[in-house]
Amino acid sequence: MEISQQEAANQIKVLSDKIDYYNEQYYQNSKSEISDLEFDKLLAELIKLENTFPELKLPTSPSQRVGGTISKNFETVVHKYPMLSLGNTYSKEDLIDFDERIKKTIEFDFEYVCELKFDGVAISLTYENGILVQAVTRGDGVKGDDITANAKTIRTIPLQIKSDKLPPKFEVRGEVFMPKSVFDEINAEKIDIGEAPLANPRNAASGALKLQSSAEVSKRKLDCYLYYLLGENLPTQNHSDSLTLLKSVGFNVSDTFRTCKTIDDVWEFIQYWELKRLELPLDTDGIVIKVNNYRQQEELGFTAKSPRWAISFKYAAQQASTILESISYQVGRTGAITPVANLKPVLLAGTVVKRASLHNANEIERLGLQINDTVKVEKGGEIIPQVVGVDLSLRPTDAEPIVYITECPACQTPLVRKEGEANHYCPNEKACPPQIKAKFEHFIHRKAMNIDGLGPETIDLFFEKEFIKTFADLYTLQFEQVQSLKKSSSKWAQNVIDSIQKSKEIPFERVLFALGIRFVGATVAEKLASYFKNIDALSIASKEQLIEVPEIGERIAESVILYFSEEENKKLIEQLKQAGLQFEIVEKEVIVESNALEGNSFVVSGVFTNFSRDEIKAKIEANGGKIVSSISAKTNYVVAGENMGPSKLEKATKLGVKIISEDDFVAMLG
Ligand code: IVH
Repeated sequence: MEISQQEAANQIKVLSDKIDYYNEQYYQNSKSEISDLEFDKLLAELIKLENTFPELKLPTSPSQRVGGTISKNFETVVHKYPMLSLGNTYSKEDLIDFDERIKKTIEFDFEYVCELKFDGVAISLTYENGILVQAVTRGDGVKGDDITANAKTIRTIPLQIKSDKLPPKFEVRGEVFMPKSVFDEINAEKIDIGEAPLANPRNAASGALKLQSSAEVSKRKLDCYLYYLLGENLPTQNHSDSLTLLKSVGFNVSDTFRTCKTIDDVWEFIQYWELKRLELPLDTDGIVIKVNNYRQQEELGFTAKSPRWAISFKYAAQQASTILESISYQVGRTGAITPVANLKPVLLAGTVVKRASLHNANEIERLGLQINDTVKVEKGGEIIPQVVGVDLSLRPTDAEPIVYITECPACQTPLVRKEGEANHYCPNEKACPPQIKAKFEHFIHRKAMNIDGLGPETIDLFFEKEFIKTFADLYTLQFEQVQSLKKSSSKWAQNVIDSIQKSKEIPFERVLFALGIRFVGATVAEKLASYFKNIDALSIASKEQLIEVPEIGERIAESVILYFSEEENKKLIEQLKQAGLQFEIVEKEVIVESNALEGNSFVVSGVFTNFSRDEIKAKIEANGGKIVSSISAKTNYVVAGENMGPSKLEKATKLGVKIISEDDFVAMLG
């Protein structure tokens, strides 16, 4: 139906106000008054209207959060105030020197503000009459790239602020970052599908911010902390009041800053955060110390590169030196070979480290490693320590050059290395034992077929006894066969059989993921399943059709086609169909059961007795509640199952969030 521009403008206003309201409820108050489905509908309606009447699209429209623009080149913008760097210090002595320098210039009382040094990408945001008009990267400090459309997808960056406390034009600076949890999620998926993982959250954030498609940026779940207000006629006289003001009008200011009277207080702050910072949701590499009062800042001024009124303190990396004794090679599910350094055990940040990741042959070459070398290992945000360097001055006479393997350590098949790929692969995907076992482990995984009665050891036993060769064999296993492995335990055997049977209820998208098609991770599987609806349509899809699916590129398309072209795979799918697995999508409709949980937000953690975690989540949504992924002071309840992580427990307790059991939860549903 055609509508007039006036009508469209009215509808856009009504829709935008509604969406803004629900967004605010969700992000500021952790409340959801409508279901995700209804919310997406409102947003889709708004986008449709804005596409029909592009002249009505406002810079503050909530549709900006999902992106949609393509920037071929980012425009260069000269910073109104240059984006300077900070001088670095590494010791208490350096800090005392800094303090002395300050005291020489400032005669009367002063105080410092201490903040964490966030390890991300610096950004400068300009607001005019309360509206975000420009977002620019640091660039060379004098000029940077205009990445406004990309920055608008970051939900913690306000598109508009409604406050008369700030001048008509001002800049706010801060750090865009990828939360560690998002980084880990993206990397787990990359590793799982045989892609090279991202190096660290900072690179991931910087790469994401410079993507040409803002819709892609929106999916990277970036976040931003603001720490610097600039402009003329500011209403505040000092930095800490500015931070408090920024926070009060809706900017995301980290609560971690403190004012300190003396350099000893600063030192205490530094010591307090040395280990505590590892618990924060983002990487930090030091502390920034700033003179609080603006007049005093002015008095101190700037050098060519950095302010004299601020300095950063860098924590020493958590590093240790040890001997590289040997290298072993692991074979992954996709046949990718990962070299692992075997080290002389060494104590590092409270744990004994014996092994460290070396990534691939290029990395060994880049480091110039030899066996018996003294190497530096470091623990960053990652769980697995990394070899970061070698001390050539300590190279012994018996050091041996590393000759990278040319054959698979498990099946002796000659390795291949595709052009442009860093990893070597064992191409024997049908018969290389560690690859097959890893494929089974992937198949039974919680996020795939969720066969929790089985573990890697049982899979090993099944192989030894030749009970299984393909996934389909799991579904014809007999109770007696399983029991024969552990004669005494019929309860265990029944549990194995039951959990295999139960996996027949797993929805199509997860079955597709479980098949382990190269480059088809959990997200890609979901996209393919919801687009093609069933395996038959997917299996005959052409490359062009596959590429039409949002986010599916040529590489994935080719891999899917290759998979379905192989007779063995076709046979396997036929057998799995016969066994009763789900190969068709079941359209999910949120059936509203009640509004018993309305206005409450829940974090679900751990393993439950009567429900799966997904079932609990579905119940929450069906009864009007909202699921949030991490605990904050605004979370109402944590539904805690067994094995809930101690850090979550601690956080919930500290923030006073109610922790409820599965039974309490069921009782809440009435
Ligand atoms: S203040 C004039 N505060 O560190 C100095 N910077 O080395 C203005 N950074 O480019 C910066 N956390 O990207 C400041 N709490 C913080 C920070 C911080 C991280 C980064 C920022 C800047 C670099 C300076």
